[in-house]
Amino acid sequence: MVLMNPQLSVNVRTLGRTGLEVPEIGLGCASYWAQQYFPERRARAVLETALACGIRVFDTGSSYGGGNAEGRLGRLLREIGADPDSLLIATKAGTVISAEGRLLKDFSPSGITRSVERSLVALGLERLPLLQLHGPEPTHLTDELLACLERLRAEGKLRLLGVNAFAPGIRGATALDVFDVVMPFYSVAEPGGAALVDAAAGAGKGVLVAGPLARMVFAPPIEWLWRPQGIWYLARAVRHGIGPLLRGIRLRSALKYPGWSPAQLAMAWVLAHPGVSCAVFGTTDPAHLREVCAASGRALPPEVREAIAAVNGCG
Ligand SMILES: NC(=O)c1ccc[n+]([C@@H]2O[C@H](COP(=O)([O-])OP(=O)(O)OC[C@H]3O[C@@H](n4cnc5c(N)ncnc54)[C@H](OP(=O)(O)O)[C@@H]3O)[C@@H](O)[C@H]2O)c1
Repeated sequence: MVLMNPQLSVNVRTLGRTGLEVPEIGLGCASYWAQQYFPERRARAVLETALACGIRVFDTGSSYGGGNAEGRLGRLLREIGADPDSLLIATKAGTVISAEGRLLKDFSPSGITRSVERSLVALGLERLPLLQLHGPEPTHLTDELLACLERLRAEGKLRLLGVNAFAPGIRGATALDVFDVVMPFYSVAEPGGAALVDAAAGAGKGVLVAGPLARMVFAPPIEWLWRPQGIWYLARAVRHGIGPLLRGIRLRSALKYPGWSPAQLAMAWVLAHPGVSCAVFGTTDPAHLREVCAASGRALPPEVREAIAAVNGCG
């Protein structure tokens, strides 16, 4: 049985035209959390804390954690006794792991159908609450693929459809009627994501924000020096690009305010943007999770908003 702590419970928002009410903070079941070498009992502690805080959106992917993420999420939710009908489990298709362990794109109708069948088994579900295409290019969105997605929905294998919109030029495609949800990157260090948030929300889509803490590039936690995930997180932040890293350094002093942690300020900044339905962040630490959830419902101090705008060059 899942016990919720009303004092920690995050606020809810409407997921675009779907009309569903979802907590405004979601948990990413990806990254280090999903890796086989991250102990399952610690992954479970994070999930239990998330449920206690009222988090009901769990974002994962068929290729996350080397293919370990969906199975872990499904197994742990069953062990904990969470009711799947009360959750929005979002998974992804379109990235496959080759025999050599490389990540390859496959948005062919047959590839997406196979991925959906595997995700249903791995998550232990009869229907996927939300399937998102994992970072397609505009050219991947063929009529055949869109027809395949509608067929899978008509067969009852999935409920909502979304697109992880990362590729340049994908913006127009996010208005396609088939998609209920769009997931862009958006954070203090990647403020350009606002254009996609606005376009998607304007088209009536639910907006799930990926990476709302900007991978903490503005305040790398000191624990990174002694926790095994530290090197992993640093390498990932570097792989993500030099632009957000440099912006993170410039944002250091803007993300300081009495009574707030930098992570809380970064989350509150994303949640203050109109059109955001839910910001999905990643963590391996129950204490971090409680800390970030405590930002829900708090107004971002205007001085912080102005300081961030000054660094990002907008008023
Ligand atoms: N990155 C992608 O390519 C991508 C693509 C599609 C979707 N998404 C979705 O977006 C989710 C979030 O993205 P993300 O994990 O890349 O980035 P993120 O949520 O912006 O940042 C996660 C980082 O923040 C740290 N953190 C969390 N709370 C903290 C706190 N209170 N204090 C200090 N550090 C804290 C985590 O470390 P600890 O573990 O130490 O807390 C981790 O290093 C993913 O899990 C996934 O579901 C991501």
